[in-house]
Amino acid sequence: MSTIAAFYEGKSILITGATGFLGKVLMEKLFRTCPGLKVIYILVRPKAGHTLQQRVVQILNSKLFEKVKEVCPNVHEKIRAIKSDLNHSDLAISKEDMQELLSCTDIIFHCAATVRFDDHLRHAVQLNVIATQKLLLMASQMPKLKAFIHLSTAFSNCNLKHIDEVVYPCPVEPKKIIDSMEWLDDAIIDEITPKLIGDWPNTYTYSKALGETVVHQESGRLNTAIVRPSIVGATWQEPFPGWVDNTNGPSGLIIATGKGFLRGLRATPMAVADMIPVDTVVNLTLAVGWYTAVHRPKSSLVYHCTSGNLNPCYWGKIGFQVLAVFEKVPFEKAFRRPNAGLTVNTITSQYWNAINHWAPVILYDFYLRLTGRKPRMTKLMNRILKMVSMLEYFINRSWEWSTDNTEMLMSTLTPEDQRIFNFDVRQLNWLDYIENYVLGIKKYLLKEDMAGVPEAKQHLKRLRNIHYLFNTALFLIAWRLLIARSQVARNVWFFICPLYNL
Ligand SMILES: NC(=O)c1ccc[n+]([C@@H]2O[C@H](COP(=O)([O-])OP(=O)(O)OC[C@H]3O[C@@H](n4cnc5c(N)ncnc54)[C@H](OP(=O)(O)O)[C@@H]3O)[C@@H](O)[C@H]2O)c1
Repeated sequence: MSTIAAFYEGKSILITGATGFLGKVLMEKLFRTCPGLKVIYILVRPKAGHTLQQRVVQILNSKLFEKVKEVCPNVHEKIRAIKSDLNHSDLAISKEDMQELLSCTDIIFHCAATVRFDDHLRHAVQLNVIATQKLLLMASQMPKLKAFIHLSTAFSNCNLKHIDEVVYPCPVEPKKIIDSMEWLDDAIIDEITPKLIGDWPNTYTYSKALGETVVHQESGRLNTAIVRPSIVGATWQEPFPGWVDNTNGPSGLIIATGKGFLRGLRATPMAVADMIPVDTVVNLTLAVGWYTAVHRPKSSLVYHCTSGNLNPCYWGKIGFQVLAVFEKVPFEKAFRRPNAGLTVNTITSQYWNAINHWAPVILYDFYLRLTGRKPRMTKLMNRILKMVSMLEYFINRSWEWSTDNTEMLMSTLTPEDQRIFNFDVRQLNWLDYIENYVLGIKKYLLKEDMAGVPEAKQHLKRLRNIHYLFNTALFLIAWRLLIARSQVARNVWFFICPLYNL
């Protein structure tokens, strides 16, 4: 019997961000491995014309939850969606719902966040700091609460090279930042944002650092822990390999590469690509929930959920493997043949941008205009290159994260729990993982059928022929112009022609 699963039996668990990438996998694992839990409360907001109930049904009917329905057929009775918007000062939870949450909740997993790197500082602070503070306040009024687990990021201190499992003090107290957000207008916030965030690369990592401080400040009164995952990727093993449902980070890069839009990056091939599968993060998070509630460590612990120090993978290796998978299983309707050049040279990367990225889309949009259709490629390329520029900071650096607490936790688990809640990233085979990741993107994100692979391969062959034809034509035009202008070129030409009977 798993000790962790036994712990979650009969418990009422509150999850924020349950409709997000990590939150869904967390919920799935809980239902599948701990079917004896009492209820999972999820804070949800209506979105894109969908009510709470519709959003829950959508999640339960998704491929991710197929196995859950076999183990826990009454899953829909164990999930209770609570209407809430974390952008609101009181979280917009009704009185009755609040009463129920306060009196019943045993454990909180706080996953909700804005993960947009370029979010306005006001919004990032509202969601990643103020909402966290409000939840902590709620938690402090919960008589049954055993643990508050906060999902942060390993990059919350990415301004440092070596990062320990501690909460580092922020240059400006979160309280002062929160107060200033109340009276400063957006334009002034825009102006002072670079000064405030200092050597953090964006408002996301900065606001997550502030969020950690807020949690840390409450750790005297509450039983808290912080989990810091690095770059979260598709599932490694559970419920099946390669599941992913959003285009953030590496998934976006893989799609843009596979579809032939992104053919080169300013990235350091030997920089560590600190990715971590989402199921590994979830397993660690559930183990942390158990450990924090049962062992009640004297001080609040931080757990790094990273791969670089235990089983490093490099961006160069990822690029090679992604291309190797595209050779076997290409994405459908690619714009150009996939390529994944990496360079540390800014001039080379600008040249690639001009020749490999902008020139083809401008030409294609011109062709669309000529044929009476709406041009769309330049807009798409703008979005892709903006995403790439936001990721450049992370794909050109390596960090060292200590993992003492995470390793201590692993050694505390029974062999059964180490198997069921496996977060030992040393067992991960990166080549297999990346292959499954790319296939997962194809199946679950792009919804492409494997039956379409032969046609996709044919399409790439056609693109290769067009590419050769285009290059030959370009070469001939350039050569013709050169012959017209240069005596040397003419001499070479007249020398070659008789040799080949031209
Ligand atoms: N993904 C990564 O690579 C990564 C890496 C390190 C750490 N993390 C951390 O892991 C956690 C989960 O990340 P994720 O990748 O799962 O993010 P995600 O897919 O963007 O999910 C974010 C979640 O937050 C919810 N949320 C956002 N604004 C809200 C609001 N105003 N009210 C209520 N809910 C709101 C979203 O709800 P809606 O569905 O309604 O938008 C969604 O459920 C975050 O704390 C993040 O910082 C993620």
